[in-house]
Amino acid sequence: MVTASAPGKVYLFGEHAVVYGEPAVPCAIELRARVTTERREEGMRVHAGDLSLDGFTVEYEGAADGRPDVDVSDSLVDAAMGYINEAIAQAKDAAGVDEAGFDITIESDIPLGAGLGSSAAVAVATIKAATTELGVDLTTADIADRAYQVEKVVQDGEASRADTFCSAMGGAVRVEGEDCRTIEAPDLPFVIGYDGGAGDTGALVAGVRQLREDYDFAADTVSAIGDVVRRGEEALADGDVAELGRLMNFNHGLLEALGVSSRSLDAMVWAARDAGSEGAKLTGAGGGGCIVALDDTAETTTALEYTPGCADAFRAELATEGVRIE
Ligand code: PMV
Repeated sequence: MVTASAPGKVYLFGEHAVVYGEPAVPCAIELRARVTTERREEGMRVHAGDLSLDGFTVEYEGAADGRPDVDVSDSLVDAAMGYINEAIAQAKDAAGVDEAGFDITIESDIPLGAGLGSSAAVAVATIKAATTELGVDLTTADIADRAYQVEKVVQDGEASRADTFCSAMGGAVRVEGEDCRTIEAPDLPFVIGYDGGAGDTGALVAGVRQLREDYDFAADTVSAIGDVVRRGEEALADGDVAELGRLMNFNHGLLEALGVSSRSLDAMVWAARDAGSEGAKLTGAGGGGCIVALDDTAETTTALEYTPGCADAFRAELATEGVRIE
């Protein structure tokens, strides 16, 4: 039996634009998905009590058989099961085995579909646990690459390497197309506001694609996000938190223009700004889910707790460690 864990992430800068080859800077945060794998004769049994799915246990022999009987949308369950299926397929491929059954238990601190990289963390931790169980020692870069393949399959090709690389490596990372690297970052005072909802990443990415096709200025907006990210990298290297905040505000405005914010995300962003945070923006695909603000006082967390539409507000540390065996 092996347990592996991997962190979630926030985007300091660059979501959506990263899909079009602009750089993005995600940072791993100390909210983890823990996956335990144990060999069994054949088939897979998945226990996932903690995926904001009200808990489900499913027993099935292959990808298509058996559905958990739970009171959540089919698409959310299909997506969750899709990541686990594909991650196990990647682990078997790495080990060169066709037949391998697993009992898999998933516990996650990371809300599903909320822009905090839950699916990437589950994919990364599952690959680490299952390959270790099968006696294969993949490099962290290999795990990141295989987890990216998982996201690509499950998300119909609409995935960047950002989430999976960040979750595997930990810390702050920079992703531009195929080029992924870790970068230095000060310990940033992240505060997260969560509206309790989830965005539809595929639909949001498709919406931005359509806007870019319809309007040159939408394509310019995507390029402008790239410019913000490049300035953000300089601010990060200088440890200039005030400048990082200003640039996050700018990044949020551009995302809002691209139609991926929402009333609750905007309300939380404004609450964070009014509370004196250095800056705030949505994180991830948008449409609902989370915002990230920078504030080393308790003011932003308190303000968010009283903001209508905010279901949860909490501080998150930068996770310096990526995927690991527990
Ligand atoms: O919501 P998340 O954490 O899955 O982030 C999506 C980020 C996008 O740039 C919108 C898509 C991607 O795969 O990079």
